Amino acid sequence: MSEPKTNILWGGRFAAGPDALMEAINASIGFDRRLYACDIAGSKAHAAMLADCGIISEEDAAAIGQGLDTILQEIESGGFEFSAALEDIHMNVEARLAELIGPAAGRLHTARSRNDQVATDLRLWVRAAIDGLDGDLADLQSALIDRAEAHAGAVMPGFTHLQSAQPVTFGHHMLAYAAMFERDRARMQDARRRVNESPLGAAALAGTSFPIDRAQTAAALGFDRPMANSLDAVSARDFALEFLAACAICATHLSRLAEETVLWSSAQFGFVALSDSFSTGSSIMPQKRNPDAAELVRAKAGRIVGALTGLAVVMKGLPLAYSKDMQEDKEPVFDAADSLALCVRAMSGMIREMTVNGDRLRAAAGAGFATATDLADWLVRELGLPFREAHRVTGALVKLAEAHDVDLAGLSLEQMQGVEPRLTGAVFDVLSVHSSVASRTSLGGTAPDNVRAAAAAARAALAVGRAP
Ligand code: ARG
Repeated sequence: MSEPKTNILWGGRFAAGPDALMEAINASIGFDRRLYACDIAGSKAHAAMLADCGIISEEDAAAIGQGLDTILQEIESGGFEFSAALEDIHMNVEARLAELIGPAAGRLHTARSRNDQVATDLRLWVRAAIDGLDGDLADLQSALIDRAEAHAGAVMPGFTHLQSAQPVTFGHHMLAYAAMFERDRARMQDARRRVNESPLGAAALAGTSFPIDRAQTAAALGFDRPMANSLDAVSARDFALEFLAACAICATHLSRLAEETVLWSSAQFGFVALSDSFSTGSSIMPQKRNPDAAELVRAKAGRIVGALTGLAVVMKGLPLAYSKDMQEDKEPVFDAADSLALCVRAMSGMIREMTVNGDRLRAAAGAGFATATDLADWLVRELGLPFREAHRVTGALVKLAEAHDVDLAGLSLEQMQGVEPRLTGAVFDVLSVHSSVASRTSLGGTAPDNVRAAAAAARAALAVGRAP
């Protein structure tokens, strides 16, 4: 009879190995292998610190460091054999280290637990994800700013309730999104400050009796400081929730831009045409150019918001400190980060490559009595009417134009004077969409000169960049 296969790392207390279902539900190696580089970096910092503090010998620390470097190479070259029996990345690495360097490997886990180890690894991973997303978002902003500069004066309909409201410029619309992504980047940077604290050395939950130097490992891993409370250090996942919240908000912005791309590229709007490389065809309708990438960006907000919701529900009600529930933190974090990066990049490609149809934009800009507010403002400015009265007069003029099936500029002065006798021919100057946008010079307004200045300012801010 063969011996039961107990776990090599804690088998001492066990007489039997796990049931196959136990292994299946318990193993996280299928997804947490992505933490390998963070895990190895954390272990190297820990081993070096243990030696510096006289807790393990220099020789053992050197052997551990070399062994870990070998494992890193093995994993990166695809030669490492991951084992579900070894549950997670931490134990896979440690077991391999034991094979490579023998008993000295067993000293690595001195003054450490998988609880502080996994929290450290995930913080390092999230920090890198934030830095990657920051670059991707800056690239998207750059694409939007390019478009804003090119189309600073291109009038288009501005909508509220998806009804023609007032003309704006296409550049202004692009810069609205650039501003949203600026806030998304800022939110990520703000979260990064709280991500960037080291749990390492909190050990299982209570700290350790070994004379460790947590500031040393924190600094070696680029953390700003060690976390102050050992219970908090191993229990906290609000750093992951905050990251997911920032991802979710950013995903809603992308989804709105994607939705507008879908609308704008339809035959009915015809504002833009997506490039071939970001369109798909239909297997049955030869005329089709479908905006699949935009639709998927719109949809992926669902899974990213779901990741936030999912982890929030996992975390609620967990007693301190570590519970295995928290192993469920990784998949939502990985999935949200991957999905968001993909969406941001696909959106940058779509924005860069799409063709903007200025004629269609201009024609649509005038539809729906879009300059009615300009007319009302003229009545206030030139005739001194209270705005509410000007609103009423303009409404009557819109009704008249509608009855004659013309736009406001299509009414004759006589027809207009039938509604308000003091109207003069000068009113026609404000009825064009170009004069409408040109007049919107207030701070943040859509006047083409404003848009050019705003694009230049956004470009300059982008060039200066932000210290990660
Ligand atoms: N795979 C585990 C996780 O992702 C590592 C921590 C395990 N800690 C423990 N006490 N069982 O959370």
